[in-house]
Amino acid sequence: MKTVCSLQKMRDLSREVRRSGRTLGFVPTMGALHEGHLSLVRQSVAACDFTVVSIFVNPAQFGENEDLAVYPEDLENDRQKLLSAGADILFLPAAADIYPPGFKTHVSVSGITGQLCGKSRPGFFRGVTTVVLKLFHLVEPDTAFFGEKDRQQLEVVKTLVRDLNLDVTIASGPIVREADGLAMSSRNRYLSATERASALCLSQALSAARKRVDAGEGSADNLRREMRGIIEMEKFAEVDYISVCDPRSFEELEEVGREALIALAVKIGGTRLIDNCIVGRK
Ligand code: PAJ
Repeated sequence: MKTVCSLQKMRDLSREVRRSGRTLGFVPTMGALHEGHLSLVRQSVAACDFTVVSIFVNPAQFGENEDLAVYPEDLENDRQKLLSAGADILFLPAAADIYPPGFKTHVSVSGITGQLCGKSRPGFFRGVTTVVLKLFHLVEPDTAFFGEKDRQQLEVVKTLVRDLNLDVTIASGPIVREADGLAMSSRNRYLSATERASALCLSQALSAARKRVDAGEGSADNLRREMRGIIEMEKFAEVDYISVCDPRSFEELEEVGREALIALAVKIGGTRLIDNCIVGRK
């Protein structure tokens, strides 16, 4: 596995791969890799001839009071994990190359970025779509892989690709969880042992809501109320949002129909965690 920092070198290598007739898969990440990331890398390795994984902690998607300065870094372990998962290139661009002095251009998707994480993290999706578009231009993948853990991000990226006619297929992978149900996240490293126990309230609230829907509950308000009750029993937990919404428009629902997205963002101590699941009534 090669590590490439230069943007030009990355471009040259990916063009070489494509010229030789091989398909190129791409997994963009911010590092501190875990099984959630690696499942996407394995998916790419299985589906494509050549896999590029980027690690770039993108300053443009962090708000002023967020965790950019302390975002976990674990490069040596990340490299080992990527090697074992079968990645061909680790792309490690420098922030000064991605955002050189005088950088002035951003892209943003409207509408669906006004809800959920877009509402509580203004500027977040603009930062994501700007860097993802830049990375797509540098890597020129045939297929790019995103996790359902960030379901709104996945939908925003699909919209970016469709609206700007980008020549890339977006593939997705299911949420990978710890044995006790906690969705894997680089930010789980911030949790103390007691916070780690409290953090289970997210997946527990989702499971309870799913059970209710399976038992015939259709009222979105009842589901929100039940989930809030479960989360607020935890002393470290502070709800950012509890959403029962349409999985494509992210508009809040009154009634759960054939398909609804249940999405949560909860601060545990100082750590903001998200989780989600799709439910539907038969
Ligand atoms: P990051 O949080 O590092 O996540 C990289 C990719 O891994 C995303 O597509 C995310 O959805 C996926 N992922 C994270 N945890 C997962 C889990 N438990 N199960 C399945 N997939 C999981 O998302 C970003 O980085 C950035 O916003 C990025 C797209 C790289 C742009 O900067």
